[in-house]
Amino acid sequence: MVNLGDVFPNFKAPTTAGDIQFHDWMGDSWAILFSHPADYTPVCTTELGRVVTLLPEFQKRNVKVIALSCDSVEDHNGWAKDVMSYVGKASEKFPYPIISDKDRKLAVQLGMVDPDEKDSAGMPLTARAVFVVGPDKKLKLSILYPATTGRNFDEILRVIDSLQLTAKQKVATPVDWKPGCKCMVVPSLSNDEAKKLFPKGFEETKVPSQKSYLRFTPHP
Ligand code: BEZ
Repeated sequence: MVNLGDVFPNFKAPTTAGDIQFHDWMGDSWAILFSHPADYTPVCTTELGRVVTLLPEFQKRNVKVIALSCDSVEDHNGWAKDVMSYVGKASEKFPYPIISDKDRKLAVQLGMVDPDEKDSAGMPLTARAVFVVGPDKKLKLSILYPATTGRNFDEILRVIDSLQLTAKQKVATPVDWKPGCKCMVVPSLSNDEAKKLFPKGFEETKVPSQKSYLRFTPHP
């Protein structure tokens, strides 16, 4: 298992774009790695297609995208054509790499085996994991969904916006936050420090405990 803040494994793996060494492939970018149970499956096809459509949004945020599934590169290449057809881009090349994890080495190393899902040979499949890795190669976020629940990639972009903002500013983002919405002053900052740090100031919401912790500041 990789914990938040750990350096993400610098694995070597075959992909539809050739063999990669993960850290070299990332370069100085952020990265999102998302896994799938198997090729030629319905939910996975909708997810890969959604990421094709949203790719410019990931690129705008300097995030490189890579998928993973437990089948061969050859299967991935065939399936990728179906995905492109599904999103109405049949004449275009599939735009991001898909890792082949046939021996489940990465599935085990990254703790993303789904105990309820097996292939026809009885081999375990991968769950729907999401890993966001920062340019420092450290894990910033991980989410794990079962095979039967498709992810919401708008939410994943929203989370990346929060991660990228909070990596630079001493703010946290509240429930349902979106870019442009008010942020929260982090608890480790005193009111005096917050006054110096946030020229636009902050508002405090009073609570019965009289503790001063609900402090909102405009998106810096
Ligand atoms: C799917 O992608 O549709 C799927 C894969 C494995 C189990 C259930 C659904």
